[in-house]
Amino acid sequence: MYEFYAPTTIVFGEGCLSETAQQIKKMGVTRALLVTGRSSTASSPGFKRLCDDLDTAGIRWVHFADVSADPETSTVDRGAELYRAQGCDGIIGFGGGSPIDCAKGIAASVAEGRSIRDFVGTGLAFTKPVPPLVAIPTTAGTGTEVTNAAVFTVVDERGHRSKKGTSSQFYFPRLAIVDPLLHASMPPSLTAATGMDALTHAIEAYVSRFHTPLSDMYCLESIRLIGRSLRTACGAAESSEGAAEDKAAARRDMALAATLAGVALSQAGLGMVHGFAHPVGATAGLAHGLANAILLPFVMSALIPDAGERLASIGQALTGKSGIGAEESVRAIARLGRDIGIPENLEAAGVPSSHFESILADALSYRRRKASPRAFTDAELRELLERMYRGRVDA
Ligand SMILES: [Fe+2]
Repeated sequence: MYEFYAPTTIVFGEGCLSETAQQIKKMGVTRALLVTGRSSTASSPGFKRLCDDLDTAGIRWVHFADVSADPETSTVDRGAELYRAQGCDGIIGFGGGSPIDCAKGIAASVAEGRSIRDFVGTGLAFTKPVPPLVAIPTTAGTGTEVTNAAVFTVVDERGHRSKKGTSSQFYFPRLAIVDPLLHASMPPSLTAATGMDALTHAIEAYVSRFHTPLSDMYCLESIRLIGRSLRTACGAAESSEGAAEDKAAARRDMALAATLAGVALSQAGLGMVHGFAHPVGATAGLAHGLANAILLPFVMSALIPDAGERLASIGQALTGKSGIGAEESVRAIARLGRDIGIPENLEAAGVPSSHFESILADALSYRRRKASPRAFTDAELRELLERMYRGRVDA
C-alpha cells in the first residue's frame, strides 16, 4: 500500500512567467508579499516583468528582499511581520531554494500565528492551511517549488549554526511557475551545483526505503534528463553547430528534471548525502548543491552492498547504457561531477578539518536518516565522513 500526494499545479515552459499574474488573480490574491534574495534576482529583468504584470493586473505587492542563503529563522520572522503589517493575502517566492523556502516559512508562521522557530527541530507539527503560496524558481535544482519541505538555519545561544529541515503538507505551493528562461542567467558553476542537487534528490529518493513505484518513475526520468543535459547546460559538453539551441533544450531538461525530483523527494524522502550536506553547508558555508555534489559518489559507494540493483538502474538511466553495474554507476556519477568542475572531496573544496566533529554530530541526528537503504552505524558514518574529507571516488 502506498500514497502519492502532489497537489501543486505546475505551469511549465519558456515564457510561462507571464501567466503568473492572471493565475494569482484567480486565487483571489489582492496584495502579495514578494520574497526574494538581496542580490541579482531582485534586480533581474524577470523579476521586473513579474512586478509590471502584477501592476497591470491590479494586484498590489510588497517586496521582502531580505533573504540570504539558507535563511535563518529570524529572517522568516521579519518576513511574517511585514506580511501582517502590510495586510497581505498571498505570498510569492521568487529565486533559488532560499527565498522559496523562506516564503514557505512565512506562509506557515502567519497561518499558525507563531514564530517558525517553534517548529524547527522541535517536532511540533503545522496544523493550519497557509495563504495562497506561489513558487517561481530561478535555478534548476532544489525542486522546492513542488515539495512539502523547507530548510532553515537555526543559530543557538552559543552561535552554533545548524540547518534543519521541516516538512508539512501545507508547504506544497499552490502553484509552481517553472520557466526555463529564468534559469538562463545562471553562471555555469551554479548550473552545475544546482543540477547536482536535483540529481541527488532523484538518487536519494530512488534508493530510499520509502520509495514507491510512482516515485521511482519521477526519479528515473529526472536522472535520464540530467544524464542527457547537465553537461550541455553547464557548457561542459562538446559544442555543436546548433550550440544555442542545444543549450536551450538542455536548460529545459534541467528545469523539468529538478521539478520531477522535487515531486519524488516529497514522497520518498532523502538520505545521508543530505544528512552530511546540511552541516557542511551550515558550518563551512558551502553551497547546498556543491556540498551534495561532492558527497554523492561517496555515499553511493557505501550503499553498494545494500542497494546494488537500484544503483545499477541509476547508472543505466544516467548513461543510457544497459547492463552496467553498481560500481560503474558510481563512477559515472563521479565522472559527471569532474566534467562540470566539482571538487573531488571536502578538503579540495576548502572545508576546514576543524569542522569534522560538528559535521558528524549533526549528521548522526539527521531526521531522515531512517530513509537510507543502509542502516549506517555511527562508526560507519564517521568512516564515511573521513573518506569524504580526503578520499577519492574513481571516475
Ligand atoms: Fe537538496
